[in-house]
Amino acid sequence: MSAEQIQIFDTTLRDGEQVPGCKLNKEQKLIIADQLEALGVDVIEAGFPVSSPGDFEAVAAIAKQVKNATVCGLTRAVEHDIDVAAQALKDAKKPRIHTGIGTSDSHIKYKFKSTQEEIIQRAYAAVAYAKRYVEDVEFYAEDAGRTDNAYLARVCEAAIKAGATVLNIPDTTGYCLPEEYGAKIKYLKENVKGIDKAILSCHCHNDLGLATANSISGVVHGARQIECTINGVGERAGNTALEEVVMILKQHPGLNLFTNIKTPQLYQTSQLVSYHMGVNTQPNKAIVGANAFAHSSGIHQDGVIKNRQTYEIIDPKDVGVTESAIVLTARSGRAALAYRAKLVGYELTKLQLDEVYRTFLSFADQQKEVQDSDIHRIIESSKVYSEILINS
Ligand code: KIV
Ligand code: ZN
Repeated sequence: MSAEQIQIFDTTLRDGEQVPGCKLNKEQKLIIADQLEALGVDVIEAGFPVSSPGDFEAVAAIAKQVKNATVCGLTRAVEHDIDVAAQALKDAKKPRIHTGIGTSDSHIKYKFKSTQEEIIQRAYAAVAYAKRYVEDVEFYAEDAGRTDNAYLARVCEAAIKAGATVLNIPDTTGYCLPEEYGAKIKYLKENVKGIDKAILSCHCHNDLGLATANSISGVVHGARQIECTINGVGERAGNTALEEVVMILKQHPGLNLFTNIKTPQLYQTSQLVSYHMGVNTQPNKAIVGANAFAHSSGIHQDGVIKNRQTYEIIDPKDVGVTESAIVLTARSGRAALAYRAKLVGYELTKLQLDEVYRTFLSFADQQKEVQDSDIHRIIESSKVYSEILINS
């Protein structure tokens, strides 16, 4: 069976930008949209046009600028929202309206003070209304993660009847377990009449740290789109991290799923988003964190120097990181010190290394990390410096 493509729907500029303090201006959004295209995402959710004049303008500018990706605008199931989104998307080569409504008991009862039947009618009406403007309409069932599966299937059926091309199944509160979320997607694949006319999309939040696992479980069970953000930015604990799901699918060919993401662009995209949002990624962030390819314990450093794959499952170049870092700390061994000394120009014999290593350890015990400039100083202060100079 040939591998199937998973569409990557990037919502950094919409769900990601909702983070307090991360607001981007129009110029910044255009720069990021340009990089998202270069990265190869299939869909760029550019914003929520009705939410503010600034967001409207940014979506309109992105719609005009983007050449290959679908450009999407979010709406509530409200005609005015849809009118405004259609207007913002009018210059897009491939426009998509993303409309929807809450479907869990708590949304229906407390947010809408409505009934299940009325919500189905509103879902149908919103999709049908959006179809007047664009062919490509995505429907979201907000809080689908906590919505009863049988009822969710009826809502999805109505959205498909109205012409939805994509059905977004958000785990809005990040509540689901991976098995539960996967089972939900499987249930919809098996029980929604007309499901072949639309694709199912995973939109997972990270409140319990399960967004990536849930999205992967979703595609394993039949979803064909993942909604995600660069660096996993997003409300509260964030959204599914694009770089994580993309690399999981790439590193596990047995899943028979692929994306069109140009993975060597991942690191620079991550840096760009973090720079413009003003938020540093945590050092231990998978794939793009500063320590993702750094090795500091002696045993690991020795293994990596002998063969990178001993402690690395990804070639750093595959995600745009130039090389693995051998970080020198008091936990490092002789192999790492010899390796880094060679990089800065000193070829050490075994005996010289023993001597320099003693000096290194007493220095490293007082520092968190030993830098290249420190290596020069350590070697200069060792007893064998003059001998080393002659050989190197
Ligand atoms: O998390 C969510 O439910 C959403 C929808 C508005 C798509 O972001
Ligand atoms: Zn969301």
